[in-house]
Amino acid sequence: MNTELQKEPGRALLPDIKISDESLSAFVKASPLGIIAVDLDGIIRFWNKAVEEITGWTEDQVLGRSTEVLAQDQGEAYERLRRRTLQKEIFTSVPIRAVKKDRSPIQLSYSAAAVYDEAKRIVGTVIILFDITVKMELESALRLSLNKMSRVVDETVNALASAVESRDLYTASHQRRVAILACAIAEEMGGIGKDQKKGVETAAILHDIGKLHVPFDLLNMPGHLEDMELALIKKHPQTGYGILKGIEFPWPVACIVQQHHERLDGNGYPAGLKGDRILPEARIIGVADVVEAMSSHRPYRPAKGIDAALQEIDAARGRLYDPKAVDACLALFKKGFVLPDDNRNFHHQSAWHICGASKNKL
Ligand SMILES: [Fe+2]
Repeated sequence: MNTELQKEPGRALLPDIKISDESLSAFVKASPLGIIAVDLDGIIRFWNKAVEEITGWTEDQVLGRSTEVLAQDQGEAYERLRRRTLQKEIFTSVPIRAVKKDRSPIQLSYSAAAVYDEAKRIVGTVIILFDITVKMELESALRLSLNKMSRVVDETVNALASAVESRDLYTASHQRRVAILACAIAEEMGGIGKDQKKGVETAAILHDIGKLHVPFDLLNMPGHLEDMELALIKKHPQTGYGILKGIEFPWPVACIVQQHHERLDGNGYPAGLKGDRILPEARIIGVADVVEAMSSHRPYRPAKGIDAALQEIDAARGRLYDPKAVDACLALFKKGFVLPDDNRNFHHQSAWHICGASKNKL
């Protein structure tokens, strides 16, 4: 009886159980885990029932043979493993490709450690195997499915952007250029994950989609707009939200689009949101939107130029526009960032791809 355990308060007295070598051996043989023991010469000395099921080789076919019988073209990998366990290294859950007796490929995960005799001398290696073929196939199918889903999202976004393009080339070009600049700003800001950046790109490409509901003549009308006309144009973020809210993007695209004209001091529209209540993605797109719009020519006014656009965001930094987004935008142009000026050359490419190309010119 374990006297130390007996002394420990709050612990029940346990009967001493001795596990016989026979019991242990029977348990190991019947274990659902594949278990192999290999001696110092790399010869298989133990091979349980589970390994038979995993590999197709029976115990009597492999005992006394090298592990190459399992690994075949990966014999070297097993030999390396054997040598390292002899140096007392312990391996857990290492993936490896192998082949079954019928030469069909399988994927295994193994854990391995040295085996000691009673004199504490290393006498071999014990390897525990899991067949992870099905798990890996499922993961691969899931990856393919996610890639396909990602392509469907991109194609949907492009199709929606093309709907704007077919009606109003200026707005379409504006959206794509804003997407490129917004991606570059997000990259320059740092601290924004890859997934969130993709959300910025997607929302930026669609941010003015609500203008589909604004009469074409009104969008391109030169001169002063009446209050009612302005109110109609100002509905476009909310209209864009209405168009996109039913699409389950992996990012809050509809809300970003809805908020791209909100300003930090609460004087934006449609909801007059203030500061942090505006999504970070919407704050980035808000800066890119103003810079692109002011620096570009429109049918109803000439371009004000990039310098005027940068002065505008700098002057309203922290009041209207997110200071980090403004700083990142100013830093980009200071380093020589250039927006591509020909919509036809980039409208089917990812904004990230173009953003990278523009940065490479710095
Ligand atoms: Fe807008």
